[in-house]
Parts: sequence; C-alpha cells; structure tokens
Amino acid sequence: MGSSNGTSNGTGQVFANGKNIDVEKIAVSANLPAQIPALLEQLNADGIGYTITDTEARLKLLETARSLVYALETPREAIIRHCWSESTSYAALETGVDVRLFQALGTDDTPKSVAKLAETTGVDPALLSRLMKHLAAMGAVVETGSDEYAPNGFSKTLTEERYSDAFPLMTSRFTQGIIALPAFFKKNNYRNPTSPTNTAFQMGYNTDMGFFGHIQQEPITAKQFNNHMGVYAQGRPRWMDPGFYPVQEQLIDGAAIGEKDVLLVDVGGSFGHDLSDFRRKWPNAPGKLVLQDLPEVVVSVKEAHSSIEVMAHDFFKEQPVKGARAYYMHSVLHDWPDDVCQKILANLVAAMEPGYSKLLVNENVVPSTGAYWETTSLDMIMMEIGSGERTEHQWHSLLESAGLKIAKIWSAQRGVESLIECELA
Ligand SMILES: C[S@@+](CC[C@H](N)C(=O)[O-])C[C@H]1O[C@@H](n2cnc3c(N)ncnc32)[C@H](O)[C@@H]1O
Repeated sequence: MGSSNGTSNGTGQVFANGKNIDVEKIAVSANLPAQIPALLEQLNADGIGYTITDTEARLKLLETARSLVYALETPREAIIRHCWSESTSYAALETGVDVRLFQALGTDDTPKSVAKLAETTGVDPALLSRLMKHLAAMGAVVETGSDEYAPNGFSKTLTEERYSDAFPLMTSRFTQGIIALPAFFKKNNYRNPTSPTNTAFQMGYNTDMGFFGHIQQEPITAKQFNNHMGVYAQGRPRWMDPGFYPVQEQLIDGAAIGEKDVLLVDVGGSFGHDLSDFRRKWPNAPGKLVLQDLPEVVVSVKEAHSSIEVMAHDFFKEQPVKGARAYYMHSVLHDWPDDVCQKILANLVAAMEPGYSKLLVNENVVPSTGAYWETTSLDMIMMEIGSGERTEHQWHSLLESAGLKIAKIWSAQRGVESLIECELA
C-alpha cells in the first residue's frame, strides 16, 4: 500500500490524485515518453540542410538531441549520470591534464597504445588503462582497439593550457564551494545568498577571504582563472560582431574621438582578451583602449596592442579615466551583490560625461522562461560567491539605483551575454 499524500513510504508505490503510482516502474522507464515521437521528428527536421559550418543549425540540432536524451533516459540512468559519471569523468580529465595525457595522445589522429601513453606520461599502465576506458566511455577520447586510443576534437583542445586550465581551476577555487552549497543553504535557512562575506565558497574552502583575494594568492591559480576567462565565451557571437551591437553607429559616429581620447575602458578586463578582440575586429576605430584590472592581473599582460593602455586599477577606487566614450564591463557585476555593484558603478558614474559617455555592461540577462543551461550553471557558480546572474528587471533596478538608465539591451543568441547599453539618467 502506498502513502496517501503523494510521497513514497519506501514500498515503491505512491498514492496521489486518486491513483496508485508505481515509482519503481517509473525509475526504469523513459523519463518523458510522450515527448519522444515529437522530438524524433524535430531531430529529423533539424538535420535537414544541416552543414558543419552552420553554427545556428548545429546548436538547434544539439538542443533537440539533448532534449531527446533527457526524454529517453530513465530516472535510474539520470541518477547514475549525475552521481557517478560527471564527477568521475571530471577526475579522469583533471588527471589527464595534470600528466599531459592529451599532449601525449597528440593531435595527428594516429592511435596510440596505453603502453606508449604510459611511457610518455609516467603513469602506471594498469591505472592508465582504467582511466582511458572511462575517458572513452564518456566521449573524451576515441577507443580504436584494445588499450588503444586516438584523439578527438575535445582531447586535442585539452592540449592547450588556456583550455585545460579550467579543470585544475575549478577544483582549487570553485568545486568545494559548489559541493558546500546544500549545507550552506541549510545553515542559512534557505535564504538567497547575497553577501560576499558569508558564502558557500568560504564554507567549502574553510577561509575568511573573499573569492578574488583567495584566487590572487597563488599566481598559478590567477593564471588559470584568467586563461579560462579568455576562452569560455569563444565561438559565440560577441557584441562587437556584425548583427549584434552597431559599434559604428552607437560608439564611433557622432563621437569626435581624437587619437589621444579614450574610446573604451575595459574595467576588470582580465588579460585584455575583449579589447584585443575589439581591436582585431575594428582595426580603424579611433582613440585609445584602456585595460584595467588588479595589479596582480595586469602584471602578466605582456603583449597588448599598441593602442591598448594597460592600467592597474581597483574599481572600488576613483576611476582615473574621465569622460571616455564608453566604460565597459564584461562578467564583472555578476561577481558581486547589488550593494557592492553600486559602489563599483558609483565610480564609473562619477567619471562619465553627461550626454557623451556610455556604460556597456556585457552580461547575461536571464529570461523569465527557457534560461539556457550555461547561464543557469553560471548563476549557480556565482551563487557560491554570494552573487548571481540577473534578470532584466534586476538589471533595471540595479542600474537605475546607481543613477543610470538602460538605453537598450542588445542580444544575439540564447545563452550568450547581452550588451546592456546605459547612459547617465
Ligand atoms: C569574472 S572576471 C571577468 C574578466 C573579464 N572582464 C572577462 O570577461 O573575461 C572578473 C574580473 O574582475 C577583476 N577584479 C576583481 N576585483 C577587482 C577590483 N577590485 N578592481 C579591478 N578588477 C577587479 C578580476 O581580476 C577579474 O579579471
């Protein structure tokens, strides 16, 4: 006999809405059987006309394929995927990064034996054989025979540090905080976290330090963080690309910018990847570009374009560049709760020239439905440090509270940061 209130009493039977529900049967049946025929049809339709270079079509196909997997997968399989496979493949990948396995596997598509890979990496062949089997089962390498593997696009990408650094970075500075989230929520009575000094990050890493102070403690971690910042948004539309934000009309035209004037200040701009991208895409845009970040970060910027001035600046202090055409912040405000953002914004508002300067905020605008998984994942990561991604309403309320008004929110693709164009109110 099942429970009568819709919760299981451990018998596998639940009585809810006048019906006996067999949870044990549900656990081993497809998750959303009713959706499978329509998703199969959709997958066929999405595949028609697909070409390998058509990003939009590829994303659509991927999204339908993912929905189909979620519909076909049984709850038991979903539990195993979440609880077994994601953490263990992460461990195998991070080990691979650590021992330079992906460099040993190479980029030339020639299969290599485990014996050869063990010799190159110095890993015990018996251990490597087990790790490789799991990496192949999880799609990270290609199994070509017994104890023999070839690389794929993913493993080739991991041969470069700027991509593979994500793994040791997450372990040393994020994952323990994420794992601490449930206990942190419980301890704080399930209140939405909004303080940078009482966070799951501090609980998970057993520290009183704030996230950015902690990260700067070790140069290797700071390098990994900035490398990850430089690549995580690659391959997606950027605001300076055609069809996103009209740079010429909105930023350049109508602004009499001489060579010595500042066109763009990237506040908290890390190693300057956004400004370099901008300069590459807009080689003739007039004026200077200024890259600002903490001294510990900008000290590592060695090869900036001649039009990029690199400046150590703490954004909690007075903004030294006055009256720039635009101040720009990418993924900065999402690191901080509103009261801290107001302090950062106040320094920019004070430097902006009325009727001329703009503030460009390159951040996610979380939609009311259908938020993309990359956006919601990032929101959970930010939750760990007491902040988060914001909805349109939250952006209005934050920016207006700082004396700004949103002129327009420019967006290009689901899951990609918008460009929130602001002026002084
Ligand atoms: C999430 S990262 C974003 C980096 C870059 N804008 C991007 O999108 O790749 C946040 C940046 O803010 C910088 N930052 C943190 N605290 C800062 C401060 N007080 N003053 C200036 N920059 C700071 C960090 O060093 C880091 O580069």
